[in-house]
Amino acid sequence: MKHFTKQLSVIIILILAACVVAFATSSQTSTTFPVDKELFKFYPSLMVYEKTKANFTEPETCAGCHQDKYDEWHGSLHSLAFIDPVYQGEYNKAVKAVGKEIGSHCASCHTAAATVTKEVKGPGLAGRSAIAKAGVSCDICHSVSSLNHCKTPSREPENGSLVLRPGEDGKENPVLVKRGPQKAEDGCGGGFHDCKQTDFHAKSDLCASCHQVYHYDKHYPLESTYLEWKHSHYAQKDIHCQDCHMVGHETFLKSADTLTKPQRKEYRHYFNGANYLLYYLASQAAEKAGDKEQAKRLMNQYDMAVKRLQKAAELELSPIYRNGILAEVKVRVKNIRAGHNLPTSLTNVRQMWLELIARDEKGAIIIMSGTIEKNGSLSENSRKFSTDGMGNDMHFAIDPWVITAFASHETIPPKGYKDAYFAINPTKGNKKVTIEVKLRYRQAEQQIAEKLLKAVPADIDLARDYGITKIPALPIVDMVTAKQVLSVKK
Ligand code: HEC
Ligand code: HEC
Ligand code: HEC
Ligand code: HEC
Ligand code: HEC
Repeated sequence: MKHFTKQLSVIIILILAACVVAFATSSQTSTTFPVDKELFKFYPSLMVYEKTKANFTEPETCAGCHQDKYDEWHGSLHSLAFIDPVYQGEYNKAVKAVGKEIGSHCASCHTAAATVTKEVKGPGLAGRSAIAKAGVSCDICHSVSSLNHCKTPSREPENGSLVLRPGEDGKENPVLVKRGPQKAEDGCGGGFHDCKQTDFHAKSDLCASCHQVYHYDKHYPLESTYLEWKHSHYAQKDIHCQDCHMVGHETFLKSADTLTKPQRKEYRHYFNGANYLLYYLASQAAEKAGDKEQAKRLMNQYDMAVKRLQKAAELELSPIYRNGILAEVKVRVKNIRAGHNLPTSLTNVRQMWLELIARDEKGAIIIMSGTIEKNGSLSENSRKFSTDGMGNDMHFAIDPWVITAFASHETIPPKGYKDAYFAINPTKGNKKVTIEVKLRYRQAEQQIAEKLLKAVPADIDLARDYGITKIPALPIVDMVTAKQVLSVKK
C-alpha cells in the first residue's frame, strides 16, 4: 500500500511537471514573431520613446514660424487622426472587446506623443491636451530620430516601429531638435530648435511604421500599404509616398505618370488620400463651430481626394463571343496611378466595385450588377475589389483585433489589373447591347458606418459637433465610367 501511494505521488508529480512545462510553452511568446519587450516598452505598440527633458510641442507653436506647413497639415487626415469620430467609435469597441492592453496599439499611430507620455489611455476627447488632439502632428514626424524596422516581431516595419526623441537635455535648458530631409544650415530653427538631417525623411521609410498595420498580437498584416509600395515599380523608380501625397494634384499626376521626382519647391503638407468622407464630416464640424477658413481647407482636401480617386484607375471593355454570339463582356480594371494596391489600407472595410448595366435596343435591362439596395448595402452579386477578413475560427470578421487572415484578396496591384467577366444573355431578335460600367468607391458598407458612428464615446455628440442626427446614405464616388455598344453577332 505504502509502495502504491509512493508510486501515485510520483505519477502526480510527473503530471504536475508536465502541466507546468505545457503551460510554460503555451505562455511563451511565439518563436515566429519574437518580441523584444526590453526595447518595446509600449507593446503591443512598437513605438519607442527616448525621453529627455525636451517635451513635445503643439502644432500651433510650429505655426508661428511655419504657417504655410501648418495650413496645409491642418486640413489633413493626420490632423484628424485622433479626433476622427469613426476612429473613436472603433477604438471604443476595441477597448471594450479586448481590454485596456490594446489601447497603446491603436493610440500610438493615431496620437503618438500622447501615447508615449501616457496621457491617452483610452477613448474619448474630454480633458485631452492640444498635442493629444492634434493626432499625427508636426512634432511626431519631425521628432523621429531612428527606425526599428528590422527589430520588430515580423522583421518588417509594423505598428509604429519608430523612435521619438523631441530633443536633448542640453547643458542648461532642454534643446529641441527637429529632423528633416535637408542639410541643416546656420540659423536653422530660428533659435527655437536645432535641425538634424536624416536619410529617411524624404523616403517611404518614415511613413512605413504607421502605414503597415499588423494584428496587435498575431502580427498578421491587416494594412500593407508600405509593403505593397515596396514591392512595386514605383519603389524601383525611387517614387516614394511623399512624391504623390505631399504634393498638389498636378504634381501627383506627374510623379505617377512620368516616374520623375517633384522639385523641392513642389512639396506640400497635404497628405491627401482617398477618405473624402472624413474631410466632409470634419468640414461640417468646422462650419458648425464657426471656423469658415478651416471648413474651406477641409473642402479643398475633399475635392483633391475625389479628384485623386478619379485619376487612379482605367477601364477597358471587350466582348467575348461564343459560336458567333455575344456571350460575355470582360471588364479590365487597371490601377494606373496608385503607388500601392487599389484600394489599399483598410481593404476589408473600403468598398470599390463595378456597377454594370446592359440594355437591349429597346432600353430594357438585361443585366444589372453592383447596384445599391434600398437599405444602402451593396447587392450580393457585385464584383468587388477588396478583401474579406476572417478570424481564427475561419469566420467572416470586420474588426482588426479579430482578423488573423484574409479569406479573399481582390485588390489591384500597382500598374497591374484585374479582370471581371459578366455573362450576357441577349434577348431574341436583338442586334445590339449597350453596356454601361462604372468603377465606384465608398468608405464602408452602410451598416458598418452606422455601427461605428453609434459606438462613439459619450463625450462626442454627433448632433452637436457634426450636425448629424440620422446617418445619411454614404456618398459614393464614381472613379471611372465607360460605355460601349456591342453587336450581338460577331
Ligand atoms: C506625417 C509626417 C509629417 C508631419 C505630420 C509633418 N511633416 Fe513636415 N515634413 C515631413 C516630410 C516627409 C518632409 C520632407 C518633404 C520634402 O521632401 O520636402 C517635411 C518637411 C518639412 C519642413 C522642411 C521643408 C523644406 O522645404 O525644407 C518643415 C519646415 C516642416 N516639414 C515643418 C512641419 C510643420 C510645421 C508641421 C506641422 C504643421 C509638419 N511639418 C508636419 C513630414 C511631416
Ligand atoms: C500601425 C499604425 C496603426 C495602428 C496600430 C492602428 N491604426 Fe487605425 N489607421 C492607421 C492608418 C494609417 C489609417 C488610415 C488608413 C486609410 O485611411 O486608408 C487608419 C485608419 C483607421 C480607421 C478609419 C478611419 C476613417 O475615418 O475611415 C479606423 C476606424 C481605425 N484606424 C481604427 C483603429 C483602431 C481601433 C486601432 C486599434 C485596434 C487602430 N486603428 C490601430 C494606422 C493605425
Ligand atoms: C522661432 C521660429 C521657429 C519655430 C517656432 C519652429 N521653427 Fe522649424 N525652422 C525655423 C527656421 C528659421 C528653419 C530654417 C528655414 C526653414 O526651413 O524654414 C526651420 C527649419 C525646420 C525644419 C527643416 C529641417 C531640415 O533639416 O529639413 C523642420 C523639419 C522644422 N523646422 C520643424 C519645426 C517643427 C516641427 C516645429 C514645431 C515643433 C518648428 N519647426 C518650430 C524656425 C522655427
Ligand atoms: C504613384 C503615386 C502614389 C504613391 C507613390 C503612393 N500613393 Fe498612396 N495613393 C495614391 C492614389 C492615386 C490613391 C487613391 C486611390 C487609393 O485609395 O488607392 C492613394 C491612396 C492612399 C491612401 C488612402 C487609401 C484608402 O483607400 O483609404 C493611403 C493611406 C495612402 N495612399 C498611403 C500611401 C503611402 C503610405 C505610400 C508610400 C508607402 C503611398 N501612399 C504611395 C497614389 C500614390
Ligand atoms: C505616427 C503615425 C503616422 C505616420 C508616421 C504617418 N502616418 Fe499617414 N496616417 C496615419 C493615420 C493614423 C492616418 C489615418 C487617420 C484617420 O483616418 O483617422 C493617416 C492617414 C494618412 C493619409 C490619408 C489616407 C486617406 O484615407 O485619405 C495619407 C495620404 C497618409 N497618411 C500619408 C502618409 C505619408 C505620406 C506619410 C509619411 C511622410 C505618413 N502618412 C506618415 C498615421 C501616420
